[in-house]
Amino acid sequence: MKARVLIFLGAPGSGKGTQAKKLCEKFPGWLHVSTGDLFRKEIASGSELGKSVQEIIASGKLVSDDTTNQVFASQVERLLSQGPVKGLILDGYPRTRPQTQFLIDFCRKSGKLEDPKAIELLVSEEAVVERLSNRLINPRSGRVYHKLFSPPRVPGKDDEDGGELIQRDDDKPEVIRSRFKLYTSQRDGIVNELGNDRVNQVPGEGETSAIAAQLSNLL
Ligand code: AP5
Ligand code: MG
Repeated sequence: MKARVLIFLGAPGSGKGTQAKKLCEKFPGWLHVSTGDLFRKEIASGSELGKSVQEIIASGKLVSDDTTNQVFASQVERLLSQGPVKGLILDGYPRTRPQTQFLIDFCRKSGKLEDPKAIELLVSEEAVVERLSNRLINPRSGRVYHKLFSPPRVPGKDDEDGGELIQRDDDKPEVIRSRFKLYTSQRDGIVNELGNDRVNQVPGEGETSAIAAQLSNLL
């Protein structure tokens, strides 16, 4: 059976990463693919790719479609070669119309993936600025915290591996607002390419667990 492909579409801070991690823990066989996490791992490792995207990411601009498509495709090929997969949750990919075309084509050619569908998490710009100004992450695992809503047990330390939590370079208020605008400018192109009927919308504000329950139903 082919694996399902579910895109979590949404502005920065809409909760894509938080919800993707929750659902992949809850549903065996579902895997989380975050191009942002993949780029941050490259930056942390000091690789050539990491060096080439570091400034772009810190300023909130988009990495080129070619580089992003390559990073995405090699990660998915690696995951599919490791064993059976029920579904993929794509977080932060695709982010442009050309990436969406690449994804649709990639799924068809792979023979192992269904055509992609999307769930869009809806949040206001103000909620996003509040959330991201208070976000902490573990740059190695991508685990996400919020200083008030989901703080780590020990301040500044990851609950799972005790690693140092940091604030992302692109979580400065002026960069957050420009990332929000960038998302708004690209969103329609992505939805039109997928087809409106393949996109479900879910409110992204409220209790994290209530949103997770709604998403579980759609899964
Ligand atoms: P990426 O890492 O994908 O960032 P993003 O899309 O901007 O999204 P975020 O990770 O900021 O937010 P999120 O929706 O995951 O929210 P989260 O769950 O963390 O990309 C980073 C950069 O990499 C891009 O800007 C670009 O440069 C590059 N890049 C990546 N993909 C690319 C692509 N495809 N093409 C080109 N370039 C690409 O939640 C946010 C905060 O809110 C957390 O603190 C969390 O605890 C909290 N929170 C979550 N849910 C709730 C809730 N219900 N109530 C209260 N707080 C909540
Ligand atoms: Mg994220």
